[in-house]
Amino acid sequence: MAHSHFDRHRRLRNSSVMRRLVRETTLQVDDLVYPLFVVEGNGIKNEVSSMPGVFQVSLDNLDQEIDELLELGIPSVLLFGIPKEKDEVGSGAYDPNGIVQLAIRQIKEKTDDLLIIADTCLCEYTSHGHCGVIKHNDVDNDQSLPLHVKTAVTQAQAGADIIAPSNMMDGFVTEIRKGLDEAGFKHIPIMSYAVKYASAFYGPFRDAAESTPEFGDRKTYQMDPANRLEALREAASDIEEGADFLIVKPALSYMDIIREVREQHHVPVVAYNVSGEYSMVKAASINGWIDEEAVVMEKLTSMKRAGADIIITYFAKDVAKWLQNK
Ligand code: PBG
Repeated sequence: MAHSHFDRHRRLRNSSVMRRLVRETTLQVDDLVYPLFVVEGNGIKNEVSSMPGVFQVSLDNLDQEIDELLELGIPSVLLFGIPKEKDEVGSGAYDPNGIVQLAIRQIKEKTDDLLIIADTCLCEYTSHGHCGVIKHNDVDNDQSLPLHVKTAVTQAQAGADIIAPSNMMDGFVTEIRKGLDEAGFKHIPIMSYAVKYASAFYGPFRDAAESTPEFGDRKTYQMDPANRLEALREAASDIEEGADFLIVKPALSYMDIIREVREQHHVPVVAYNVSGEYSMVKAASINGWIDEEAVVMEKLTSMKRAGADIIITYFAKDVAKWLQNK
């Protein structure tokens, strides 16, 4: 079909407007979710040492954060709470006046222009740092489920728009869906952390959320990074159980999984660009080794090219600013 001996691919790259015309993937502010760490206490705005530019904020500093996100046009936040007191059963997670529930109410009172996604897990609230109740030195699946349900329901009661369970217990979508429906929240979608690997890239997050496990690791509930078919089974069960969105986490080392989940399912696919992925770029950029804006835009565009519709990223504010300046 070519009129010469070889194809002239460069014809479609020969100017910046031409490249704009043929561009297959674009990143928009509408694609972004900004994770926010809300901490109990007053007057707190602590930079996380392993995540420059990311802060734990107390409720009195929350409005300022929200104003900034609204100004930038970022459509959504993912909320994590850091309580003062932790216990064996993570009571703070399902306290109707817990830190996340208070934060949700405060944001809702202020605006309807920001979707509030509540991360539903216990690890920030348990003294041992695991994502459920401990029995025989491991997280007990079925005893943990009701606590995750209670957490989700109190988050919905506070006004959360989307429930995002990240605990990786089997059956969490079924149980949380049932709990939400019975409590009158049939209309609230579940964004499931369907495919969540036991990843070393979560290191900096555990500094931010103060949720490093006190003993052991999360490998009996989070997935082995070596597995692909298991990821597809996890995604399929969550769809079967009624998930409205599927998260793949982390993003960068799991682009193949994002692609396959996108091909097999027809709900929005969410890539979680996790803390370690953020910190690596920040460290290199602070050292002057890479061009931060160019690298971040390339990475996030690649996640969309791989099949993600939505990206949860600590770079959301920066990206929104860069897009505005374009
Ligand atoms: C908790 C949870 C984790 C993250 C989000 N929710 C990780 C963990 O298992 O410790 C990680 C986010 C990140 O690294 O940015 N269940």
